[in-house]
Amino acid sequence: MQEATGSPALTFRLVSKVYDVSPVASRFALRDVSFDITPGQKVAIVGRSGSGKSTLLHLAAGIDVPTQGEVLMRGHNLAALSERDRTLLRRREIGLVFQFFYLLPHLSVWENVALPELIAGGRVSKFKARVSLLLEEVGLLDRAEDNIQELSGGEMQRVAICRALVRKPRLLLADEPTGNLDDSNSGLVMNLMLKLASQEGNTLVYVTHSAELAGLADEVWKLQSGVLKKS
Ligand SMILES: Nc1ncnc2c1ncn2[C@@H]1O[C@H](COP(=O)(O)OP(=O)(O)O)[C@@H](O)[C@H]1O
Ligand SMILES: [Mg+2]
Repeated sequence: MQEATGSPALTFRLVSKVYDVSPVASRFALRDVSFDITPGQKVAIVGRSGSGKSTLLHLAAGIDVPTQGEVLMRGHNLAALSERDRTLLRRREIGLVFQFFYLLPHLSVWENVALPELIAGGRVSKFKARVSLLLEEVGLLDRAEDNIQELSGGEMQRVAICRALVRKPRLLLADEPTGNLDDSNSGLVMNLMLKLASQEGNTLVYVTHSAELAGLADEVWKLQSGVLKKS
């Protein structure tokens, strides 16, 4: 994708998402949501269950498309792309982190981090150092050969963050990344994610239920029944 200099990393213009829940009923998951996020900015999204947080991240990632309005990544309208191109864009530009990690249980720590590169078909020599560097940053280099199932939840999420970053995405999206972790691991994982995002120059949007962890971001935005309230 061409560089559009000066463009925000991510823009929503009057974005609404409506789900048809039956032939006669529909539900607004997001309602006229507009914002710009500048490159390198860190935004936390908070809000009750069902307020539209995951929907917002799915639209930002191009996993889903809005019912109305526009989503732009670095000034490029996602709706102008075919589904295939959106998928390619997502693989290249976006790192995703989820509550339940979605690591592959029969692979090692190293293989899980390298997976996006292995899928892309690159030569191991090209990304070997990158995988090691990321594992070192999250304190798991000495666990590289271990099977993923030997890790604790906090360690698994650290691996998932490395996997999200391995191909150097510009935008990192994390949906309740600490939702499955205890308090001490939550703080550790969130701080590592923020540190890595800063080092890598990523734009970061994360969803959390913790006011304390939300407070680590540059801005905290709240969703209320699909309506975005910026602080
Ligand atoms: N695929 C879907 N079909 C129908 N309704 C959905 C679907 N996904 C989400 N919703 C509804 O949209 C609203 C927002 O959901 P979601 O974005 O998952 O909220 P959150 O992540 O804040 O809990 C909720 O009312 C939810 O039930
Ligand atoms: Mg959610």
